[in-house]
Amino acid sequence: MNAFAMTAPGHLAPGLWRHPAQEKQTLDHWVRLAKFLDENGFHGIFFADVLGIYDVYNGDGPALKSGAQVPILDISLLVSALAHATKNISFGITASTTYENPYALARKFATLDHITNGRVGWNIVTSYLESAAKSFGLEKGIEHDERYKIADEFLEVVYKLLEGSWQDSAKDQSHWQYFKCAGPNIVDPSPQRTPFLLQAGASKAGKDFAAKHSEAMFLPGMIPKKTAQVVQDTRALLRELGKPDDSVKFIAGIFIVVDETDEKAQEKFNDLLQYADLEGTASLFGGWTGTDLSKLSDDEDFTFNAKVPAIQSFISSWTESVPGTGGVKWTKKLVLQHLAVSGAHPRAIGSPTKVANILEQWVEEAGVDGFNISYATTPSTFEDLVKYLWPELRNRGVLQKQYAGSTMRENYLQDGKGPRARDWHPAREYTWSG
Ligand SMILES: Cc1cc2nc3c(=O)[nH]c(=O)nc-3n(C[C@H](O)[C@H](O)[C@H](O)COP(=O)(O)O)c2cc1C
Repeated sequence: MNAFAMTAPGHLAPGLWRHPAQEKQTLDHWVRLAKFLDENGFHGIFFADVLGIYDVYNGDGPALKSGAQVPILDISLLVSALAHATKNISFGITASTTYENPYALARKFATLDHITNGRVGWNIVTSYLESAAKSFGLEKGIEHDERYKIADEFLEVVYKLLEGSWQDSAKDQSHWQYFKCAGPNIVDPSPQRTPFLLQAGASKAGKDFAAKHSEAMFLPGMIPKKTAQVVQDTRALLRELGKPDDSVKFIAGIFIVVDETDEKAQEKFNDLLQYADLEGTASLFGGWTGTDLSKLSDDEDFTFNAKVPAIQSFISSWTESVPGTGGVKWTKKLVLQHLAVSGAHPRAIGSPTKVANILEQWVEEAGVDGFNISYATTPSTFEDLVKYLWPELRNRGVLQKQYAGSTMRENYLQDGKGPRARDWHPAREYTWSG
């Protein structure tokens, strides 16, 4: 169970910063939230991150007004304070292989791994926003598959620094194409060496990359049936690479509104919707897909509009999964309403029993191992989970009773094999073994 968070007032829910339940996100706020999640057995807080403003849809105005993933703090600095205040919970930190430097990032993760006692993971992203490219000194973004090639080499450099620095071979000048790095890493070996690695590639290049490097994958999908296919495809890729079937944990994103009864949960959701900002939602959509919805008319029926494939795949899964959406006219407004508050995550709204049934369905049908639970407001979304859903999951015996180990890797892989990257992982090719 991960709390899916962002150091921004609106992660997937632009506009919700205006809701009375949204606390100001000060350091105290984050510390209280982290302690609360830690005391209630969450495996991790997973922090998403972006490095620019969402400006594809009508410039940067709508994103700024609605708080769509902006303003956003540097997570790694925050995590050191959260680590000090907590005991067991791990921290997933998003960092970009396109804009970071491998030598500096390896040092940062080694430092964080020390001060968290091994409770740190890296969500590897290649970054999709053009606005970030321009602020990092490029004229335009690097092409998608090329970004993954760079990412692959970036990881090799990091493995070598973190796993192999304290041996002679790390002093080799290497053959790398994109990076020059003599090493060694100037931080001494930390509990996990290589941080626990997470990734969410959806394209061919992304899936190949994830199968090679990641230890946990975030899976897209609005309905379990489709996500099941992604799980199967990934397992096939793992087998091709000679990795065990269960070498990667699968995590599905989900948005949950839970209360005593279905009616109360629905009322709560309706209340949240009033604060949702559809302009901000259009900004996020623009950044994710590169599609500028301001160019499309308000009442066009998207159901058959092949010009916007990004919308097509959402619509087909909504009509398969959301009751009453078959045969409706999918206008821009309706599409945005379905993305508001929860983004491209499925929504589980209802009583503890209903929500627990939905989660179990994801585990059974899609074969996922866990969830990234997104928020509408902090800390209340997460407080509701603990108040209403946790007792139900505990009764069903599906909530963890204690942490499996002291590091992120032990707590996520739960195979009793310690804090270091497993033998089958490419990082281990660089490990000092003598
Ligand atoms: C649950 C989830 C979380 C993600 N978090 C981030 C993030 O914080 N920052 C980011 O730049 N990209 C993030 N992404 C985007 C992925 O890194 C990736 O670009 C996307 O899934 C598309 O895959 P592709 O790049 O292989 O096409 C996330 C994707 C998913 C599904």
